[in-house]
Amino acid sequence: MDRSLYHVLGAKQFDRAELDRLFAASKEMEGVVAAGGDKRLSGRIMTTLFFEASTRTRLSFESAMNRLGGSVIGTENAAQFSSAIKGETLEDTIRIITGYSDVIVMRHTEIGAAKRAAKVAGIPVINAGDGAGEHPTQALLDAYTIQKEFGRIDGLKIAMVGDLTYGRTVHSLSYILANYQDVMVYYIAPENVQIPSYVKQYMDEKGIRYQETNDLNAVAGSVDVVYQTRIQKERFPSVEEYEKAAGKYIIDAALMDRMRKEAIVLHPLPRAGEITEEVDADPRAAYFRQAHNGLYIRMALIAKCLNMAD
Ligand code: CP
Repeated sequence: MDRSLYHVLGAKQFDRAELDRLFAASKEMEGVVAAGGDKRLSGRIMTTLFFEASTRTRLSFESAMNRLGGSVIGTENAAQFSSAIKGETLEDTIRIITGYSDVIVMRHTEIGAAKRAAKVAGIPVINAGDGAGEHPTQALLDAYTIQKEFGRIDGLKIAMVGDLTYGRTVHSLSYILANYQDVMVYYIAPENVQIPSYVKQYMDEKGIRYQETNDLNAVAGSVDVVYQTRIQKERFPSVEEYEKAAGKYIIDAALMDRMRKEAIVLHPLPRAGEITEEVDADPRAAYFRQAHNGLYIRMALIAKCLNMAD
């Protein structure tokens, strides 16, 4: 049995062999769901501790645990409804939860919060998003979706569009893509929210080709994947900075006309106007399939962290 996964804190911890095993386990989970679930995690408890809003991540993790026969406790608004509001430290909160459950899924406002939690937790911690830092489980489901849609990731051209500074999913997805051969990444963003230098440095170290640009129209016709993102309004230091970045890249029917017929559009969601609803009916709009894949990836991750998956 594979015990290479314990904490899931960042996307850099995944190598190609681990990704292959995770995707195989996720594929098996598709069968488990089709068969009505199983009971392998019966008697195990997962805590979801969310200091920031979430629809997909929290609910897909909770669904995943339920599909595998486990139980869920937690709070969807830990900033207000946990004792953090009384001044309890994150470390003390985690020490307490360690006594109540078997795995913690945590979203926090601060970069590095999941690593802090893991230092004191006696159980696995899964990072469900740490501020503008990382969102590794999102990147895993993104990569799983690309693998499913194309049958491969090697050799693909992937455009990441929008808020590449505060959008944590593109940081994690870059780190995951660095495991694949001959990928080309286009970072398409307004100048004030381009991809951070520390992400580019990692891509350089791994020998991954990338190009920074602000011209989506020039790139749209040649890529396999357009990965659109929301401008993260809540993370900007000022309204003026947000307005410099907002509304620059909209995927609409005209943009879809420029794209290859085999290409797909992904988005971690939620969207806030950057993909128009007219695009939803296009078979290349893969973002709802992508969100659905989050269930399978998270089932596989929980089972692996709890030593109940190969
Ligand atoms: N993609 C994502 O993390 O969505 P939620 O914020 O709804 O969890």
